[in-house]
Amino acid sequence: MNIIIRENYNEMSRYAAGIIAGLIRSKPDCVLGMATGSTPIGTYRELIRMHRDEGLDFSNVRCFNLDEYLGIGLDLSKPYNEDQSYARFMYEELFKNINIKKENTSVLDGRAKDPGKLCKWYEDEIKRAGGIDLQLLGIGGDGHWAFNEPGSSLASRTRVQALTKQTLDDNYEMFYKNAGTAREDMPHFALTMGIGTILEARNIMMLASGIKKAEVVAKALEGPVTSQITASAIQLHSGGITVVLDKDAASRLVYADRYAHVEALRKRYSI
Ligand code: PGA
Repeated sequence: MNIIIRENYNEMSRYAAGIIAGLIRSKPDCVLGMATGSTPIGTYRELIRMHRDEGLDFSNVRCFNLDEYLGIGLDLSKPYNEDQSYARFMYEELFKNINIKKENTSVLDGRAKDPGKLCKWYEDEIKRAGGIDLQLLGIGGDGHWAFNEPGSSLASRTRVQALTKQTLDDNYEMFYKNAGTAREDMPHFALTMGIGTILEARNIMMLASGIKKAEVVAKALEGPVTSQITASAIQLHSGGITVVLDKDAASRLVYADRYAHVEALRKRYSI
């Protein structure tokens, strides 16, 4: 595991965007797994800047999103703050600002009549695209990856998940409150890639920032692998793993000095 600790959110975001841009430059038709939430917004802004100022080209990039609320989907007739779909988030925060092709952006449609069939189709679609080269991930306050809530099987596939109280609280504060939605009216279920699906990505990059994530980050990276912290499945991944943290999110790591030492060594020997 390559654990990178940066001074603050902006530096974390710049580092993460640099990794994604490097992949796009070396493999212009790469397949990216995208994440929503407050954490990746800075990374997306930096990618938009690179597209604008440096010509970073997304025209052959393919994207798959991790998850979506059940019951809602992209509705461009509404203002952004009234459309809380993750499809809308991706459109506003990234897709509309870069030259990615619409048909290359796959997001689970929360309005699907048969969610089980959609989930199966999504898994097949990822395979048809050749698998995910780099999956971007945050980590929830309850340790989840995507919407794989505590207790999810670490072999789980794309499916419908009930959301925990903590996730509902976190996301209500972050998104739904601004739209004036009552807490009980926000979706209580979601469609999500499974942990087994995520672990098949060839490379994984997890981001976390802020003191509120410090404890759960330490549990996921340095604690036991457990379905109670589904992000701890990162320890089971067999491909390239990068974790980019700001200082606050890294502040409860026991081995932070070792990670900094390893980063310095890699830099020195260009490994
Ligand atoms: P956040 O959410 O980026 O808004 O903290 C992360 C997550 O739930 O995975």
